[in-house]
Amino acid sequence: MNDFSEGTSIIEGSPKMKSRSIVILALLVTVTAGFVIFAADPAAAEKKSLGAKTIAPPAPAWLICTYDAEGKPNMMTASWVGMACSKPPCVTISLREATYTFGNIKEHEAYTVNIPSDKLAAATAYAGVVSGRDTDKFADTGLTAVKSELVDAPYIEECELVIECRLIKTVELGLHTMFIGEIIDVKANEEILGENGSPDPAKHKPFIWSIGGYGFYGLGGRIGGVGELADKFRE
Ligand SMILES: Cc1cc2nc3c(=O)[nH]c(=O)nc-3n(C[C@H](O)[C@H](O)[C@H](O)COP(=O)(O)O)c2cc1C
Repeated sequence: MNDFSEGTSIIEGSPKMKSRSIVILALLVTVTAGFVIFAADPAAAEKKSLGAKTIAPPAPAWLICTYDAEGKPNMMTASWVGMACSKPPCVTISLREATYTFGNIKEHEAYTVNIPSDKLAAATAYAGVVSGRDTDKFADTGLTAVKSELVDAPYIEECELVIECRLIKTVELGLHTMFIGEIIDVKANEEILGENGSPDPAKHKPFIWSIGGYGFYGLGGRIGGVGELADKFRE
């Protein structure tokens, strides 16, 4: 029978060798335990690489309004958008040069961001699948363009939340160009404001876009696919 008090040990050799062996053994145990814990973590095992893509749901679906060279108002849907700076207050939108809106912003150095409520979901879908180069999207959707008194761009009367922007910087990134606009004013309909004076999502009822064909989702769930919603205004 082993009696460890009498100096028998599972590690044989001089005391120096023994202590080295103990350190190596401890390291081995730690590394093995770490590997076992990592390999057993179900969350780590379930992750699947989706590649270097522009996937960051949920995405906004905002309506960007501009004037063309003749002064015709236009609206387009944009998801690659976001707040960028609080002082000065700035918001960015990233557009392909092929959009009509791109040239309009270059021409007038201004745009408005109109954050639609779910009742404007069909118009938002439509503004994202047809171009102002080919049609008058305000006439098609029956929405009303109001001339901003602060920037050289229109906004949508029926949209309860509007941000008026003056272009301050353009960053060419590749397929998309990022326009950085200084926020000159934010206008909201009284009925969507909460007690603290800010827009209350429960009253405003904004919605998001789920990339990958999943469509628009409001606070109460799915509203519909972009194609089927846009059909409401297609001939
Ligand atoms: C939900 C949604 C989001 C979109 N986001 C963008 C965007 O961020 N940038 C962009 O260049 N085009 C985006 N598009 C495509 C434009 O809205 C589309 O090309 C539109 O016809 C351009 O309108 P315009 O030519 O009148 O400017 C989006 C379309 C949809 C349906």
